Amino acid sequence: MTHDHKVKPWQGRFRVGTDRLVEEFTSSLHFDRRLYRHDIAGSMAHARMLGKQGILTAEEVAAIVRGLATVQEEIDRGEFVFEPADEDIHMAVERRLTALIGDVGRKLHTARSRNDQVALDVRLYLRDQVQELLTALTDLRRAGARLARKYFGVILPGYTHLQRAQPVLFSHHLLAYDEMWRRDQGRLQDALKRLNVLPLGAAALAGTTFPIDPAYTAELLAFPAIQRNSLDAVGDRDFVVEFAAAASLIMVHLSRLAEELILWSSAEFDFIDIADAYCTGSSIMPQKKNPDVAELIRGKSGRVIGHLTGLLVTLKGLPLAYNRDLQEDKEPLFDVVDTVLPCVRLTAKVLEHLELKKENIARALRGGFLTATDMADYLVTKGVPFRTAHAQVGQTVRYAESHGKELAELTLEEIRQFAPVVETDLFAWLTIDHSVQRRTSPGGTAPVRVAEVLAAVEAELGLP
Ligand code: ARG
Repeated sequence: MTHDHKVKPWQGRFRVGTDRLVEEFTSSLHFDRRLYRHDIAGSMAHARMLGKQGILTAEEVAAIVRGLATVQEEIDRGEFVFEPADEDIHMAVERRLTALIGDVGRKLHTARSRNDQVALDVRLYLRDQVQELLTALTDLRRAGARLARKYFGVILPGYTHLQRAQPVLFSHHLLAYDEMWRRDQGRLQDALKRLNVLPLGAAALAGTTFPIDPAYTAELLAFPAIQRNSLDAVGDRDFVVEFAAAASLIMVHLSRLAEELILWSSAEFDFIDIADAYCTGSSIMPQKKNPDVAELIRGKSGRVIGHLTGLLVTLKGLPLAYNRDLQEDKEPLFDVVDTVLPCVRLTAKVLEHLELKKENIARALRGGFLTATDMADYLVTKGVPFRTAHAQVGQTVRYAESHGKELAELTLEEIRQFAPVVETDLFAWLTIDHSVQRRTSPGGTAPVRVAEVLAAVEAELGLP
């Protein structure tokens, strides 16, 4: 079934028009219209290059650039009328341009294909988004560093297997996330290098017969590099995958922190208070204050990871060079951007307003034999081999536990049944404070070490 419709730019070789269903099925306009600014910037640079090379006249270039500026204003103001037959943003812009300036508009696509055009648009778009995300991550790291500074000195139980293990500084715990976010920024900066390459000049797949000057186009669009294989330039979406992978790791890191915030705000832990503005209530249980923001961040990590998988599967098995499958890169990419940015920004907000419940945290340090490793270390300083010390402390812990006591509450005589070399100086080693103070190894939780790292982070982030 065919119908009356506008003639398409590629209509020449077709005898009958497109089925309405096919038109709907193949159209990307409803999502790629968000690329219009980048599409127009790319077209302006392309037209200027064609002018510089004498492929278009100066008057033609001026008309095209002016016309494109008008199209952009129309879309900016919401006055632009998209038509179902437009198929994608590239054709919508060109159709309107030609309507505005006449046949000269039909010269814009000289020495270009939508294949290299779309590759350019996505790169330009993603370059902007990566910058936004880098900034958002810096803001998040600042919020984390400020919180680490505010509560410097607070000790909480460190966990392994979610069992209380050894005491650590809260700031040390928080700065672990700073390490992750710093690597996240490094991955984005690294991805940016490969993303920041001009694909124009590849045209459909094989390059062009026109005497183009891609270096000039690259200069206009601030690309430090130019594609050097036309087939790859139009077929490559590695940069989208790399971004989605970097975004997935960001989401995984945010999700791990979200999980901790959720646990810590439960009555079972009760270590923190998440500000009211970042929680929601229950429609049936009046007493509830739920950590929904943190839960949604944890939940949204799933869709970003899903998009990464989807993109990889879309690319797998695609023959060179361009295939229409590649149009399927945009919705996942846009959704990744739309998901990860608010998650980073909201995590920063939650941290900015987070309160620690210091008494409850201090209470959690009692019991659990958090300084058992310190007692073993003490025995080692008295010449006991570590494995022997470990066994002696294990027996002491078992004894203390069955008598309902902490290690520090045992008498010297009780301890000596298991660890005969113990003197009264052991008791200094059994305090939480001592345990933290002594972990001065590089990257350790001792306040001197954590203070050094925090100062370095603050300096890196330009914090006072
Ligand atoms: N909408 C297309 C995409 O997103 C643009 C390129 C179309 N190229 C083509 N030969 N049909 O990939």
